[in-house]
Amino acid sequence: MLKIIAILFLCLPCLLPANSKISLDVVCGRNEPTIRFPFHIRTLHQEQCGYPGFDVFCDGMNRTIIELPNMGNFSIQGIDYVDQQVWLNDPENCLPKKILSLNLSGSPFAGVYYHNFSFFNCSSDYRGYGPKPIACVSSDAFSIFATPLRGVHLSHLLRQQCRYIKTVAVPVQLPFFVHELSSDLSEDLRLTWNTPRCGRCTSRGSRCSLKANSKDEIECIDIPRQEVPRAARYAVTFGALVPALLCLIGLVCFVSGKVKSSSSRCPDLPSVSRLPPLPPSPRVPLGLRSSIVNSYPWIVLGESMRLPKPDDTACPICLSEYRPKDALRTIPECDHCFHATCVDEWLRLNSSCPVCRKCPAPQTGV
Ligand SMILES: *[C@@H]1O[C@H](CO)[C@@H](O)[C@H](O)[C@H]1NC(C)=O
Ligand SMILES: *[C@@H]1O[C@H](CO)[C@@H](O)[C@H](O)[C@H]1NC(C)=O
Ligand SMILES: *[C@@H]1O[C@H](CO)[C@@H](O)[C@H](O)[C@H]1NC(C)=O
Ligand SMILES: *[C@@H]1O[C@H](CO)[C@@H](O)[C@H](O)[C@H]1NC(C)=O
Ligand SMILES: *[C@@H]1O[C@H](CO)[C@@H](O)[C@H](O)[C@H]1NC(C)=O
Repeated sequence: MLKIIAILFLCLPCLLPANSKISLDVVCGRNEPTIRFPFHIRTLHQEQCGYPGFDVFCDGMNRTIIELPNMGNFSIQGIDYVDQQVWLNDPENCLPKKILSLNLSGSPFAGVYYHNFSFFNCSSDYRGYGPKPIACVSSDAFSIFATPLRGVHLSHLLRQQCRYIKTVAVPVQLPFFVHELSSDLSEDLRLTWNTPRCGRCTSRGSRCSLKANSKDEIECIDIPRQEVPRAARYAVTFGALVPALLCLIGLVCFVSGKVKSSSSRCPDLPSVSRLPPLPPSPRVPLGLRSSIVNSYPWIVLGESMRLPKPDDTACPICLSEYRPKDALRTIPECDHCFHATCVDEWLRLNSSCPVCRKCPAPQTGV
């Protein structure tokens, strides 16, 4: 039923000792990540091929699935064996639901970069400028919002028809998370694993594998170097060179064949090509200098609540009504007004007005 393609490295049999435990590369389907040590597919690899916690399986739609303790099934979107990173999403397309109960403590994985998101459960008639409810966890009766903003904003939201649920440190893709007023949190979770450490072994072109009779000790099997001394010992004769040459030609053909026919039945393209584009490093936040932000008009509301714009009675960022003693700040270029704490944090990370976007303050970001 499930069609699994096992990729044999054409040259390995002639280079590796016959009793090698190096696991074959397998994939669940076209465009799915290559599965090799420390991951393993129990039905395809030998029992002793994988590392504890790295069991995966192929589901009925040819997706690569890993079941994490207490957290259920995730689809593996990409694996980087050198940097020891994995990109996960929800096979049921509701990642926020998983994030709400995120607990990686029983798994080998941890986030690379985290950002705290606060979740709110609001009545369904609750509306604001910015955040959109997360559809797959909301219903007709209530709307769930997630916001990456911190501190004071939370208490502002709480004053509304919203109930604070929790704050979750979400393993985001990039260190400088592109801040939005809210996020639908549907982007892959970027995770890394510490053990087993096979990154360096892999980057040398060698293969990592479990030591014989061990459940968690690994060894790096150095494919080319094993062969060199033997070749030297058995003399550099024509007889030894010809098979090696043929082997090399075979490898070259195999590799170029793979490159040409990326849609053919050779899905063992480097899994890196499946990964989301990485940011050019180093990245800097795109916000404004605090001296610029501090130069923007700032008022504290009195008991009489004389608003800068009488019709704008709520802060578009935290969505809560202005109250006496709230500090407000206006962006001069477009006259939009916010809680000072809200807009200060926003402008630390973004250089445009959160409401109209197209009225950027002077482009003097850091
Ligand atoms: C799974 O992959 C096989 C070929 O590898 C293909 O025939 C089959 O249609 C795929 N199934 C789904 C649900 O995509
Ligand atoms: C994960 O998927 C497998 C196979 O579809 C299923 O048997 C298992 O119950 C799922 N795990 C959870 C926690 O839903
Ligand atoms: C995560 O799960 C572990 C048990 O696997 C539990 O001990 C721990 O308290 C949980 N952490 C959170 C934050 O719920
Ligand atoms: C998230 O919040 C926790 C506690 O509220 C804090 O300890 C942690 O540093 C925060 N993480 C980030 C990335 O801001
Ligand atoms: C949100 O609140 C409603 C009641 O107001 C409750 O029925 C629902 O389960 C809550 N949803 C979540 C995800 O907490």
